[in-house]
Parts: sequence; C-alpha cells; structure tokens
Amino acid sequence: MIRIALLPGDGIGSEVITAAVQVLDHAARRFDFAIETKWFDLGADRYLRTGETLPEAEYCSLRDDFDAILLGAFGDPRVPSNIHAKDILLGLRQRLDLYVNLRPVKLHDARLCPLKDRAAGEIDMAIVRENTESVYVGIGGSFKLGTVDEIAQNMMLSSRKGCDRILRFSFDLARKRRGRLVLCDKANAIESAHGLWRRALAELAPQYPDVEARTLYADVAAMQMVTHPHQFDVVVGDNMIGDILSDLAAALVGGLGLAPSSSTHPGRVAMYEPVHGSAPDIVGTGKANPLAAILSAAMLLRDFGQVAAADAIDTACAESVRARETTPDLGGTRTTTQVAELLCRALG
Ligand code: IPM
Ligand code: MG
Repeated sequence: MIRIALLPGDGIGSEVITAAVQVLDHAARRFDFAIETKWFDLGADRYLRTGETLPEAEYCSLRDDFDAILLGAFGDPRVPSNIHAKDILLGLRQRLDLYVNLRPVKLHDARLCPLKDRAAGEIDMAIVRENTESVYVGIGGSFKLGTVDEIAQNMMLSSRKGCDRILRFSFDLARKRRGRLVLCDKANAIESAHGLWRRALAELAPQYPDVEARTLYADVAAMQMVTHPHQFDVVVGDNMIGDILSDLAAALVGGLGLAPSSSTHPGRVAMYEPVHGSAPDIVGTGKANPLAAILSAAMLLRDFGQVAAADAIDTACAESVRARETTPDLGGTRTTTQVAELLCRALG
C-alpha cells in the first residue's frame, strides 16, 4: 500500500493532479498494487479564506501519515507576495529536509527540440539540484527599505554535509546511468560556497573510480547544454544553479509541460511535482498538459518499487508525445482529461 497525499495547490494544479490520479488508479488496477490517496486543501484559496498557509497539524500529518506527496503547482495572482507558495512548497522541501531534487530530462521526439538536427534519445540527462541550501535558506533582509539608500541582502549557504550528501547521491546515480557526472557552479566568482562544493567533489571522486567526474562553470554549462547537449549525463548543482539549468534543459526537450521532478531524503516522506507553475491564464480551458504531473507520478511509483507500472507509464507518455496525442503546447489537440484517458487505454 502506497499512501499518497495530494496537494493540487493553485491554478491548473488540480487539473493535472486529477489526471495523474486517474492514471495512478488505473495503473494500480492493471499492475495489481494498492494506493490510498487523500486530498489536501492547501493553496491560495485556503489562504485567502482563512489566512492559513500550512497549519502545523497538516504539516505533521504530511510528515508522519504518508509515504509520498504528489503536488500540483503553487502561485496565484491574488497573492502577490506568494507567501503561501513559500510556506507550502519551499517550506515542505526545507522542513522535511528533502535535499535531493531530481529532474530527469529526455528527448522523446526530435520535433520538440528547438535545436537543429537532434535525434530522439540524444538528449538524456538527470539534473540533480541541491534542494535545501544556497540562497534558498531565506536568510537575509532589507535595510532602509524603499529609500534611495536601500541595501538588500540574501545569504548563500553551502554546508560540507549538504555538499557531501547530494554529491554522493549524484555519484551513485551516475553509476546507474552512463557514468558521467558534472558539477556546475560559479567557483570562479563565488569562492567560498562553491569552492566548498569543488573540494567535496574532489575528495569523494576517488571512492567512485568508475564515474568520470568533472566541474564546469554554470554559465559555460548553460552554453554547452545548447551546443553539445548529448555530453550531459548527471548534472549536479546548488539550489539556484539547479533551478536555472533544469528549466534550460527542459526547454531542450519540449518544455515544462514534460518536466517531472522528485524531492527526496531517504527514509522520509517523498515529494513529487511537475516542474511547471500554476498557469492561471489557461485554468479551465483543458489546455493544461498533464504529462509532467503524470511522469512525476511514475517517478513516485518507481521509487516505491512499482517499476513495471512506472516503465509502462513512461512508455505510454513518450508514445503519446510521438503520436501528438497531446495538449496544444506539444502540438496536439487533446484536452487534459483526454490525454489521461488515452494513457489509461494505452496501459491496457
Ligand atoms: C521550481 C520553482 C520554484 C523554485 C519557485 C516557484 C520558488 O522555480 O520548483 O523550480 O525556485 O524552486
Ligand atoms: Mg524553477
């Protein structure tokens, strides 16, 4: 039994999570395993109604009563401060210490790549984003706010423990993939925080002689992802570098509508979410692409041992992309619900 908390959040979140749950339920029947789901009303509506973002009782329930959290998207124009998203999305990553943000990127259909002459399968990388440190720690503030003398500061933190654990994960992942690991940083400008990453990498590398590990400045990495994307296998970076490079990489294979992710820490409740946002402009139109949420659900199943079901969902998604049985962002004419129904049918 996999216990899954559903946090649809804002905007198209509930549409894509409904689609993902439909596919999960279908896969559970087809592959004979059990899931239990519970919906949580957390997001902008709740915040505007009650002033609550992530009440303690719900946080504790998410932490203690579930194996996994499947999250939609957060962000609503009625909450310009984005306080609820910060408390819920960044809050869960931080408080649950979900330090591994894994964002796989694969080209399923050459047509979706904005680069010239790239064949399907040629772009296949895993972005590993450190998910708890760097400038995301929320330490900082403003001095003389709103005046001409204003000074603003945000602290960038890297800990040795934080570097070691995410680098170990990355080395282990590289071992299971094509054996190539690249650390992307700005050690040439951010000497202390990113210098620490480089020392940690150099000290761990001898323990993984079968992995080819190297470093690349993040700006050069951004350029090479465009010019030589096929060279990348496992790409690791700090919270901000990983955030930026994962959007760039996603754009190479069809955009955020196809980009899934997981946020994990072994032994703790794991979180799965599409990389895309809440897209308030297309709410209710049926145009929301559910594939990123469905692929995130497949990552969930894989992590909980349902490998055959995860493989089948991945394959069905790739085939629906190639056959253009998709929403308009990927060149199709299907609605969110139709995509989910077609995938269920493909699963048999
Ligand atoms: C992501 C998003 C978030 C982040 C935003 C919404 C705070 O861009 O999940 O990649 O920066 O982590
Ligand atoms: Mg991002």
